[in-house]
Amino acid sequence: MRVAIVGGTGPFGRALATRLEEAGYDVVLGSRDRDRASKAAAELGVEGATNAEAVGSADLVVLATKAEAALVTARELRMAIGSTPVLSVASELDFTTRGVLPRSEPLSLAEQLQTELAGPVVAGLHSLAAPKLGGEHQPDEDALVCGDDSTAKELALGLAERITSGRAFDAGPLESARALEGLTAVIVNLNKRYRGNAGVRITGLP
Ligand SMILES: NC(=O)c1ccc[n+]([C@@H]2O[C@H](COP(=O)([O-])OP(=O)(O)OC[C@H]3O[C@@H](n4cnc5c(N)ncnc54)[C@H](OP(=O)(O)O)[C@@H]3O)[C@@H](O)[C@H]2O)c1
Repeated sequence: MRVAIVGGTGPFGRALATRLEEAGYDVVLGSRDRDRASKAAAELGVEGATNAEAVGSADLVVLATKAEAALVTARELRMAIGSTPVLSVASELDFTTRGVLPRSEPLSLAEQLQTELAGPVVAGLHSLAAPKLGGEHQPDEDALVCGDDSTAKELALGLAERITSGRAFDAGPLESARALEGLTAVIVNLNKRYRGNAGVRITGLP
């Protein structure tokens, strides 16, 4: 399966590419800048391309630009992405003196992306921190994915299952992205308060 990582030159995209390549996926790392993509991709042993080229040949697109650029990037790539499923990993956060806050808009970023794109949008992997995802071993934690399209969700769950040593869970419809994106704020606050790298483990399920 071919996975395009849009904005793949950042810490999250690089970490994800490393794990996916290890799991046997065909990975193409995208960037706004072809040279930046090629350089980062060569370091990781994957293919590099512009974002638009990368999505054109993918079975699944992971939208991993900085969160504030996700919507505008989706708009720009709408035609190139076509009906290909998109996995949104982004959470927009407000850094305040009181702590990190989830965004206050009623719709999640993933739901907004769905209004921009023709293909199905799923959301997930928000709780997997780049330093752990790209570490020596797979992160010892679970991954949560939500979405309305069952085929797209299965693709994302299959991918999530292969990049952690924990489990990948179906967390419900795309509206659940509001909670998954908000959970990132909780995790960042935990990391700051306890100086660690928090992750998620779901208990009580068969
Ligand atoms: N970091 C984490 O631990 C983590 C964990 C879970 C989820 N996430 C999510 O994963 C995404 C990527 O995280 P990150 O830490 O890797 O982010 P990042 O380093 O801030 O940005 C990733 C890439 O986005 C591209 N980008 C920057 N500004 C842009 C713009 N104005 N328009 C289009 N592309 C732009 C850049 O690639 P080019 O300049 O090469 O185009 C950059 O390398 C975020 O949405 C974040 O919420 C991150």
